[in-house]
Formats: sequence, C-alpha cells, structure tokens
Amino acid sequence: MAENGTLHDAFIDELRDAYDAEKQLVKALPKLAKSASSDDLREAFESHLEETREHVTLLEQVFGTIGEKVRGKHCEGIAGIIEEGSKTMKEDFDDMTLDACLIASGQRAEHYEMAAYGTLVAWAQAMGHTEAADLLQQTLDEEKAADKKLTTLAEGGINQSAADQAHSDEDEEEEEEDEQTSSTASRRSASNGASKSSSPSAKRR
Ligand SMILES: [Fe+2]
Ligand SMILES: [Fe+2]
Repeated sequence: MAENGTLHDAFIDELRDAYDAEKQLVKALPKLAKSASSDDLREAFESHLEETREHVTLLEQVFGTIGEKVRGKHCEGIAGIIEEGSKTMKEDFDDMTLDACLIASGQRAEHYEMAAYGTLVAWAQAMGHTEAADLLQQTLDEEKAADKKLTTLAEGGINQSAADQAHSDEDEEEEEEDEQTSSTASRRSASNGASKSSSPSAKRR
C-alpha cells in the first residue's frame, strides 16, 4: 500500500483527469451538435462547447496556482460516456428520439463533470488553495447550468415530441396488424416488423 501519497497528490491526479476529460469533450461536443435536429439543442451543445474550451484554459490556470505543470491523464470515465453516446448516434432513431438520446448522453457527461469538479472544489478548499477553488467553482457552476439547460430542453418539448412519435408509430402498426389479421396467415408469417416498415421504432419492437 502506498503510504506517501497525500490528498494533494490525489488532487493533482484528479486535475489531470479533468483536464483530459475536458479535451475529450471539446472533440465530442461538435458531434452531438451536428446530430441534433432541434435548433435549440444544437445551440445548447455549441455554446457549451465554447464553455468547455474555457474550462480547459481555467484548468491550466488552476495548475499554475499550485505551481504544477499542465498535464492530462487519460480519463476512462468520460471516454466510456462518449463511446456510449457515439453508439447511440449510430442507431436508426427518428429525429426527436435521437435528440432525446443526445440529451441523455450530454447529461451523463455533465453529471460526471459535476461530480469531478464538486470533489476538486471541496479538496481545494480543504487544503486552502483558495484561488484554485474559485476557478474550479466557476467551471462547476457552468456544468450545472449546462445540465439544467438540457433538462429544460428535454422537458420543454423534445421528450414529448419523441413520445408522440412513438405512440403514433404504435397506432399505425396496430392498424397494419389488424389489416393483416384479415389477410392470410401465410402471407403474414412471410412478413416481419423490420421488413414491412422503415420506421426505426418498428425495428426495435
Ligand atoms: Fe467542462
Ligand atoms: Fe460540461
């Protein structure tokens, strides 16, 4: 068991992790923005991209306040969240469902960042790194605001539009099934959900 590592060492380690996470997000956010159908959602991702670039700069300043060299360390956590998000973007979802999923992916990233910055602020305060704590708090506030903005967009129409789309597809499928029930059983068995409709929700059922 390592006995020489202090909270200060753990703090630097977390800073490096956060620095790498922010850099990964600078690359990932344009992809989320590009995949969004809603203008408001695209703008939310684009404006958080600008903030994320600023978070990179703020972290560089934090390293400076404690006399540490700026360095990143691969952040597995955010890499996993980004990887899940990119898999979602490859799914054949309808536009509003994809937007709802983009919000879900974005919020996973924001919550991860909120946990990381919450810890960093608390540790910086505990160790008396006041300047670092203030800089980290600025970023934490922006992560919280970004998360809230995504909730507002989801609850302000995107989730409901996606849900309406899901139910209208369901109704259409039920009608199709009713029509087919009156047709011959052999013809019905030759068909399936995926081949009779290009609707992505039909494939998932
Ligand atoms: Fe950030
Ligand atoms: Fe963020």
